[in-house]
Amino acid sequence: MASKTDVIDDLLSRMTLAEKIGQLNLVTPGGETLTGSVVNTGVAEKVKAGRIGSIFGVKSPAAVRALQDLALQSRLAIPLMFAEDVVHGHRTIFPIPIGMAATWNLSLIEETARIAAVEATAGGIDQVYAPVVDVCRDPRWGRMAESPGEDPVLASRYAEAMVRGFQGDDLSRPDATMACLKHFAAYGAAAAGRDYAGADMSPMRLHDVYLPPFKAGVEAGAGSIMAGFNTLNGVPMHANRVLIEEVLRGRFGFDGLVVSDYTGVDELMGHQMAASHAEAARAAVKAGVDLDMVGESYLNTLQASVEAGLLDASLIEAACRRVLEAKAKLGLFDDPYRRLKAGEPPAELPSAHRAVARRAAADACVLLKNEGGVLPLSRSAKVALVGPLTNDRVNMNGTWAVSGRSSDAVTILDGFLEAIGQGGGIVCARGCNIVDDPVLADRLNVHDRRDLSVSIDPRTADVLIAEAIAAAEAADVVVAVLGESKEYSGESSSRADLRLSAGQRRLVADLKQTGKPLVLVILAGRALVITEEAATADAVVYAWFGGTETGHGLADLLYGDAEPAGRLPVTLPFHEGQVPIAYGEPKTGRPYTGRFEKFRTGYLDLPDGPEQIDGLFPFGFGLSYSAVRYGPVTADRTSLSGDADRAVISCEVRNDGDRPAVDVVQLYVGAPVSPISRPSRRLVQFERLVLAPGEARTVSFAITAADLATSVAEHVADCRRDWHGGAFRVFLGANSRAEQGVDLIWTKDGAVAVTS
Ligand code: NOJ
Repeated sequence: MASKTDVIDDLLSRMTLAEKIGQLNLVTPGGETLTGSVVNTGVAEKVKAGRIGSIFGVKSPAAVRALQDLALQSRLAIPLMFAEDVVHGHRTIFPIPIGMAATWNLSLIEETARIAAVEATAGGIDQVYAPVVDVCRDPRWGRMAESPGEDPVLASRYAEAMVRGFQGDDLSRPDATMACLKHFAAYGAAAAGRDYAGADMSPMRLHDVYLPPFKAGVEAGAGSIMAGFNTLNGVPMHANRVLIEEVLRGRFGFDGLVVSDYTGVDELMGHQMAASHAEAARAAVKAGVDLDMVGESYLNTLQASVEAGLLDASLIEAACRRVLEAKAKLGLFDDPYRRLKAGEPPAELPSAHRAVARRAAADACVLLKNEGGVLPLSRSAKVALVGPLTNDRVNMNGTWAVSGRSSDAVTILDGFLEAIGQGGGIVCARGCNIVDDPVLADRLNVHDRRDLSVSIDPRTADVLIAEAIAAAEAADVVVAVLGESKEYSGESSSRADLRLSAGQRRLVADLKQTGKPLVLVILAGRALVITEEAATADAVVYAWFGGTETGHGLADLLYGDAEPAGRLPVTLPFHEGQVPIAYGEPKTGRPYTGRFEKFRTGYLDLPDGPEQIDGLFPFGFGLSYSAVRYGPVTADRTSLSGDADRAVISCEVRNDGDRPAVDVVQLYVGAPVSPISRPSRRLVQFERLVLAPGEARTVSFAITAADLATSVAEHVADCRRDWHGGAFRVFLGANSRAEQGVDLIWTKDGAVAVTS
């Protein structure tokens, strides 16, 4: 039997230049859900002529089959590769990625990606444009919703889990699909949080914060990577040869496909980097971008560029080889229909998939406050369920659920009704609108012209509030579900104002006046500023968008059938003027001391307290219904030396409460003195525990010099990491403000150790 390489060599030897270029052309015929502003035309004819290599956004298995039939009629019968944005589930929608990251539950994250792969492949999808591994520290950027958050270690573990879930250990399996890490690189650092804006940063920050999740995903075997729309230090990523060829392929050893983003090649003209489609296409090919998504500039210009001697044909050959290798890995040459055997997807979602989605929707919720033990709710309590998102199906899936159906989603009201059974009863009131501004509402409804995600109730604010107050007065407890609509975050959904809308803020204040215990549930795709509302409410749950099973998952959590398990994957700012914000930013020479002092860092117009610098709720924070206590933190040794040494840091974690508890034990490291000003602490490891009532467990982390190392890059292609000898403090605790820890002295013997 011919090897895969033989098959590819043979094909390449028979392909014309035009056919090779055809393999680099990636198109979308458009359809129900558009993910960009233009679509391709003449798709069927081009497929038959061998002028298209891959297609995304084809919504039915029958359409996939029909297009594959046409590809097999082309001269060399090279099968098409089909792709889709499967960002947090395919038909069964799981919590948005920032919510999945909030679970800190790697096996659950992997399980959701596995289910997504099973569902997507049944529809013929060979490649998924996921996971998004953009670290994001600026909640103005709407794609925080798709991001695994602010921390490179959590984002790296997320990236690996997602890749494992999508791809399994054999990409040729009919239920395996190729992952695509995106958006390479530093797209999440868009200036001022404005989507598509550029990122400027030091090489060290790039290598310490933004690149690690990509490296981790590559090491986990991701088959493809998508270039970002952004510039990085002035160089557009679609023309960034240094980052793609030198760092990604050369240093990280990535041997898969680099996909452009939607018209990203042509957008080199917008970046004023190319004056024509031909120049843009040449720059992208030279940078190592293999597939041209939607723009068709490769298709229309590359041949002429080669013939004019402006582009080396070997670059096209190399890109085409990578496309063919991807198709071979996916088993498409053996059977182009291998992912279509399952037939049409079932009309109903499999209950096993729903069960995982339900668990995930509950686990993603972060309990931020629970004064007086308001939560969990008693089933016999009468609940006023208030807010425009309580009886809502359209928004539950959140952004980027292109194959999900809102009709599958469980509303919060339905979840509560099921949970409460014959219990205390529920009285519902809308209370306010998601937004009151019709212009904003129109912008938010962009994907939902038929089934609006934001509607404005014709009644006045006073009438809506009065109804909510009446509901609250008739109830024992108020649960207000507020926040964003699904497209209030996501692509091209940057926000300048991070607070709840004025109508929502007023509702919270007025509900409090009733004197009834007030539980605030936030649905959002980003870290909103909820400072006043969190102070007002008795309990606060940050629930993101939970996906298909939002209503069940939230009710499970609020009624105590599930234990609070989520931990913040991003800092919640105290005030939007603080963003971008992340834990552990390097100290200044004039550090903040906890209160305002002239000539020290801090904000004049924010109150004194740690919130000035650290935000309202820190990264890693989340409460449980039980009472978890940490014992003293110990180290088996505190004097260490050299690269090979290791210290074991331990702590007993005890559940003193009478309920099970989920806890995420987090280990941070910082150096009081360092040759370069570094973050005051960095997460290096974590472990998620489930503790029975009364159970105690000793959690141990082995740390080595590799955990101390940080980038010492002098330029963006410099991948060196190093550590210095000296004093280190290791913090172990339940969030990034953990105070307990141990001091280590770790001396460095011999020559400078550099790992890359
Ligand atoms: C643009 C987005 O940036 C990217 O994430 C997505 O995969 C493509 N559109 C295709 O829908």
